[in-house]
Amino acid sequence: MLVKIEKHTLRKGMFVESVDCPSREFARRRFLLRSDQDLAAILRSSATEVAINVALGLGPGGRQSESNASNTNTGVDRGPRVEAVRGAISQSAVLLRTSLGELVAGGSVDMVRLANAAEENSDLWSDSAVIALKITRLKSKDETTYLHSLAVSGMMTLLGRSLQMDDDTVRMLGVAGLLHDIGKLLIPSEILSKPAQLTDAERIIIRNHPEAGYQLLKTYPEVPQLVLDICRLHHEVLDGSGYPLGLKQKDLSLPVQLSAVCDVFEALTSVRPYKRPWSTTEALDWMFARPHHFDRKMVIRLGSVLSDEPIS
Ligand SMILES: [Fe+2]
Repeated sequence: MLVKIEKHTLRKGMFVESVDCPSREFARRRFLLRSDQDLAAILRSSATEVAINVALGLGPGGRQSESNASNTNTGVDRGPRVEAVRGAISQSAVLLRTSLGELVAGGSVDMVRLANAAEENSDLWSDSAVIALKITRLKSKDETTYLHSLAVSGMMTLLGRSLQMDDDTVRMLGVAGLLHDIGKLLIPSEILSKPAQLTDAERIIIRNHPEAGYQLLKTYPEVPQLVLDICRLHHEVLDGSGYPLGLKQKDLSLPVQLSAVCDVFEALTSVRPYKRPWSTTEALDWMFARPHHFDRKMVIRLGSVLSDEPIS
């Protein structure tokens, strides 16, 4: 259902059907309003009114429509809002595939583009974390790394913000989430997606992906240290039994610890051919029972940011 609203009442989470202005920027564009940049661009435009679709996003005043509310609360996997989030995520996955593919092929790294992609993804998770989690847990073999990276990136920004990390750090957490598994793209796909049990040699190759990714990223001077650290250390755990370096808690920064929590949570709750997907509660309980691996405060906080889903 379309509703026309005055542009100054527009807010993130609304689905924009049309902007009444001659600007080419919004011609033929229907989109879920997720970024501050898009909001600012509409406010700057000559339009006075904007048509929003209340079946696909928030309604006037930022209220959730009844059909959207029931889709969210009952966990139904179909519905306009779910489809809007699904579309946004698949678009982000295609862009991420292009960016990471260029990097692995020796191209340049565009930190601005990555930061923008991470911010858009973060906005989506802020608005619709529960729906985004449902969508990204189901992955085809081909898109596993990209959807995993988007989910980890989104959760890292939510968790970082909830732990009151500063804006720059939260922004870099988003970028680090997108890049943390880039080393997996250097592994032959017959090993990475092997349906049978891995040999010892294959397991070593897979366990080398944090180091391989780090070695690749560190050739780019513009990649910040926090991003390099998370790429290299996201499989480290507090008691030193992780890999590749076996570092203990005192040598693992908070952002690195946070990345490990989000990475493991995403892996546990994902649908994979070789295991039953765990529910959010099962995964959090399992991690909470391992304080020698994960910081309990972070595990609890992750549960709280995923259970309440701010929509305005
Ligand atoms: Fe990894």
